[in-house]
Amino acid sequence: MSHVLVVGGTGMLRGASLHLASQSNTVSVIARSQNRLKTLVEEADSLEGMIHSIQVDYREGEQLRAKLKKAVDLFGPISLVVSWIHSTAPEAPSIVADIVGRGSSSFRFFDIWGFLTEDPWHVEREKRFQEMEKILYRKITLGFVIENGVSRWLTNEEISSGVIQAIEKDKASFVIGRVEPMSAHP
Ligand SMILES: NC(=O)c1ccc[n+]([C@@H]2O[C@H](COP(=O)([O-])OP(=O)(O)OC[C@H]3O[C@@H](n4cnc5c(N)ncnc54)[C@H](OP(=O)(O)O)[C@@H]3O)[C@@H](O)[C@H]2O)c1
Repeated sequence: MSHVLVVGGTGMLRGASLHLASQSNTVSVIARSQNRLKTLVEEADSLEGMIHSIQVDYREGEQLRAKLKKAVDLFGPISLVVSWIHSTAPEAPSIVADIVGRGSSSFRFFDIWGFLTEDPWHVEREKRFQEMEKILYRKITLGFVIENGVSRWLTNEEISSGVIQAIEKDKASFVIGRVEPMSAHP
C-alpha cells in the first residue's frame, strides 16, 4: 500500500496508524490536535513508511476537502481509508469518499461503527457507499468484551489490533469483540 488515510487516527486508532505506517509508504492521518499529531509523526520516525499529519476539523467541509486534495497531490492516490468520524460531521464521510475517489480507480473504505449505532445516518451512508462504483465498502463494528463474567468496552489497543485484523481479513462486515447477547453490553 503506498498511500493510506486514517480519519481520527490519533486516538483509539493510534496503534492502527502506526501499524499501517510500517506497511505503507505514507499514512495520512486526520485530527485536530497538533500536539497529538506531532507525537504520532515522531513515533513513526523509525518505521518503514511515514505519517503525514493533516490537521483539520472534519466538520469544516471546505478545509477538509482542500487539505485532503493536497495530500493526494503530494503522496498519490489513496487505496485504503480507515474512517472513525463522529456524527457531529454528517458530511465528512462523503467529502472523504469524493476526494479519495477522484484520485483513485478504486479504494477500500473501512467505516467504523460504534456499538448501537444502527442510526439512520450510518445506515443511509452504508447503503449509498455500497452503491458507489469506486468504493469497496467495509463495515467494522465496535462491540464489547465479557471477561470473567463482567462486560466491558474495548480498549484502544483491542480496537487498533481489531482494525488491523479487519483490514487483513477484508470482509464486508467485521465485529471487534462481540455484539451478542445485546443485553449484556456494559
Ligand atoms: N465499543 C467500544 O468499546 C468503544 C466504542 C467507541 C469508543 N470507545 C472508546 O471510547 C474512547 C473515546 O472515543 P473517541 O470517539 O473520543 O475516540 P478517539 O479515537 O479517542 O478520538 C477521536 C479521534 O478522532 C479525532 N477527531 C475527533 N473529532 C474530530 C474532528 N472534529 N475533526 C478531526 N478529527 C477529530 C481525534 O483527534 P482530535 O481530538 O485531536 O481532533 C482522535 O484522533 C476511545 O478511546 C475508545 O477506547 C469504545
